[in-house]
Amino acid sequence: PENVGVLAMEMYFPKRCVSQTEMETFDGVSAGKYTIGLGQEKMAFIDDREDIQSVCLTAVQSLMEKHNIAYTDIGRLEVGTETIIDKSKSVKTCLMTLFTEHGNTEIEGIDTTNACYGGFAAFSNAVNWIESSSWDGRFAIVVAGDLALYASGAARPTSGAGVVAMLIGKDAPIVVERGLRGTHMEHAYDFYKPDMHSEYPVVDGKFSNTCYIRAFDSCYNRYMTRLAKQENKEKPSMDDIDYVVCHSPYAKLVNKSFARASYNDFLRDSDNEKFAALKAFEEMSYADSLENKDLERALMGLTKAGYAQKVGPAAYAPKQIGNMYTAAVWAGLASLVSEVDSETLLNKRIMLYSYGSGLAASMISFRVRSSTEEIKSKLNLRQRLDERTFTKPEEFAAAMKIRENTHNACDMVPTGSLDSIATGTYYIEKIDDKWRRFYKRK
Ligand code: ACO
Repeated sequence: PENVGVLAMEMYFPKRCVSQTEMETFDGVSAGKYTIGLGQEKMAFIDDREDIQSVCLTAVQSLMEKHNIAYTDIGRLEVGTETIIDKSKSVKTCLMTLFTEHGNTEIEGIDTTNACYGGFAAFSNAVNWIESSSWDGRFAIVVAGDLALYASGAARPTSGAGVVAMLIGKDAPIVVERGLRGTHMEHAYDFYKPDMHSEYPVVDGKFSNTCYIRAFDSCYNRYMTRLAKQENKEKPSMDDIDYVVCHSPYAKLVNKSFARASYNDFLRDSDNEKFAALKAFEEMSYADSLENKDLERALMGLTKAGYAQKVGPAAYAPKQIGNMYTAAVWAGLASLVSEVDSETLLNKRIMLYSYGSGLAASMISFRVRSSTEEIKSKLNLRQRLDERTFTKPEEFAAAMKIRENTHNACDMVPTGSLDSIATGTYYIEKIDDKWRRFYKRK
């Protein structure tokens, strides 16, 4: 099969969100820390009425309905998530309820986990299946979703929640380019979830940022080496890329990664006039380059216009929602498709960087082969984001408390109000004394 890629996309995010400006006041930090320092605007949240299965059920059913997809046309369903509610039973098996109802129980694929990377791994599995001898001719669905929650403290303003569900198949409008992907994996304790009694990660924030940037450098250089070979280019660079989508824990880190690409380009082409502002940093050691604020400032200045054009559209939705872990990078792609009109996107190359702590990272690119208009109009992202309920930080903190109190509980009925659940959304009706979860759709 040719032109394998993304045929349709749907996104679910919670109805409620808080403003990061109000969070700054509520947390007693200096004005601008979350909005300028982290680059975030709003943060979506849920209470105990929703869990990873309910939000994925909502996203998948909505994808099927909006794009009029037959349940029997799906041959593979992959879930990428790091929101674990069961050490054995996958989220995928719960999503099977939607397909069993329509007589389809022959669907391969299962959950994949490694921090925010699981969504990319799921996507990769789906694409590989279609390109392999196991393929039975049907579509694949990839679901990337998480409830991104942090204990109160410095990381909490980088919380969020969301799911992206995608239809994957041949002859897609957004096609994966072959032969270019770059990957970097290693062992690191930058962000992990060893405590089964808590939903919160153990996180070394600063270290996780450095890990993210180091993995970016590595993937970017591997990608560029392959691009140089494939397209017979001596000095491949960001000029060969039209749009960039990066995993977004918060927007500022994405901005810094994009800036960092130019540092890597400079090291490959240091006599180029366009990098004159970086000449002073030519001899710097790699370790110093990760820490040096003067270099970072020079790079941010040099790439300011490029950021607005190539990254800005993908940054929009993640800024309005917050981190979504596995979903964040796909939400970036959905955002890009929503923010740029389909004629402009046509024939353009989109670079995508997925990072998951621990750590695993990959970089690929897409080529836009045909109109993305239908994806854009059905996502209807801007309007849906604007129609959310804007609540107070106190309500967010209370919702986190409720989740802490009910984490791992059985024989319980959630107390979160159904008013906070939008029509068409799945919610938890109850969890029985054997920890079995029952869902309803509002
Ligand atoms: N106005 C403008 N900027 C400000 C202000 C202000 N009033 N106050 C602070 N800032 C800036 C700081 O200068 C800093 O900028 P810099 O990063 O360019 O140096 C930025 O805001 C953050 O402030 P810090 O004090 O450095 O950071 P803090 O200790 O509060 O924590 C962090 C930030 C580490 C990102 C934290 O939120 C965190 O741990 N998040 C979770 C981990 C994470 O997301 N890691 C990313 C990769 S791994 C993953 O995806 C989970």
